[in-house]
Amino acid sequence: MTADASDSPADLDSLAREWRAALAAAGDEEAVEEWRRSVLGRSGALTGVLRGLSALPADQRRATGQAANALKRDLEADLEARQEELRAAALASQLAEGAVDVTLPGRRRRRGGLHPVTQTLQEILDAFTRMGFATVEGPEVELDDYNFTRLRIPEDHPARDMWDTFWLDEDVDGEQPLLLRTHTSPMQIRYLDAHEPPVRIAVPGRCYRYEATDATHEWMMTQVELLAVDEGVSLADLKGTLLEFARQLFGVERRVLLRHSYFPFVEPGVEVAVDCFACPGAETGCAVCRGSGWLEILGAGMVHPEVLAASGYDPGRYTGFAAGMGVERIAMLRHGIEDIRYFYSNDLRFLRQFQGV
Ligand code: PHE
Repeated sequence: MTADASDSPADLDSLAREWRAALAAAGDEEAVEEWRRSVLGRSGALTGVLRGLSALPADQRRATGQAANALKRDLEADLEARQEELRAAALASQLAEGAVDVTLPGRRRRRGGLHPVTQTLQEILDAFTRMGFATVEGPEVELDDYNFTRLRIPEDHPARDMWDTFWLDEDVDGEQPLLLRTHTSPMQIRYLDAHEPPVRIAVPGRCYRYEATDATHEWMMTQVELLAVDEGVSLADLKGTLLEFARQLFGVERRVLLRHSYFPFVEPGVEVAVDCFACPGAETGCAVCRGSGWLEILGAGMVHPEVLAASGYDPGRYTGFAAGMGVERIAMLRHGIEDIRYFYSNDLRFLRQFQGV
């Protein structure tokens, strides 16, 4: 874009066209600034024309000077307009990028919910907490000693068959076989060993059994163990505690039934049932109690004196009760769930039914 003062007004016209085209082609702020420097700047082409005016013959000076000055004003205005245009375009594209279509429907946030077994577990623990039981937990990988021997289930005793066991290949100091606990009862021993009476604990936790699964058996399940040891604790306390528990979980009308049963670590041992909450009583065809009128919910009994003595308690002075319940079984009864395997098959169609329960 060179020019000098010898350019006639006609030449200036064609230069002006050239400059305007260049300005229109400047696509961003930088290019526009570059254009400004090269045309209107101190050593710009048009500035050069104005400077050279004095060298022109007098007859040309006036006309060329007027034309060049008018052109300068025009180009300055064009420059400003172009800058404004570019700013507006930049703003428009910024707005378009961040555009929010407020007419689009919102995206629903899926809220999670507690697993039905967790819900029932929390209710069970709440009930026992209200009755003064502290919640404590123990290891899922357990020593043979705590899971069996100290519970009066010695090696090779047929009672071991009551709990099919996952054994671990590892062992501790080469002696004690390790296993996945088959019940929460080992925490009775761990707790008694480490504490003085009075004892009142509820022990929630996962347990594992090496058995084929079917509608009522899973290889993993959740239990809650109950243990109370003090002076003067009797079977009546066990029954009263479990009655209150049954009423909190299954309704205030409930009754409980204790029938004799066998567990090596209690004497006497009982099986506890609640009367059916789904039918007026032993109704044939009742899907919950299947006509029996009673729902077995747990095993229990008075802590065996030998168990107490082995933990250093004087069984002449202290007595206690223990109970162990399957949380899945209780959840199944409460919700009318027919197959325990639903709980852990991760089917959202099943699990969503318990959201917001
Ligand atoms: N631990 C027993 C079981 O899992 C249940 C139980 C606990 C029985 C406490 C009596 C006392 O079968």
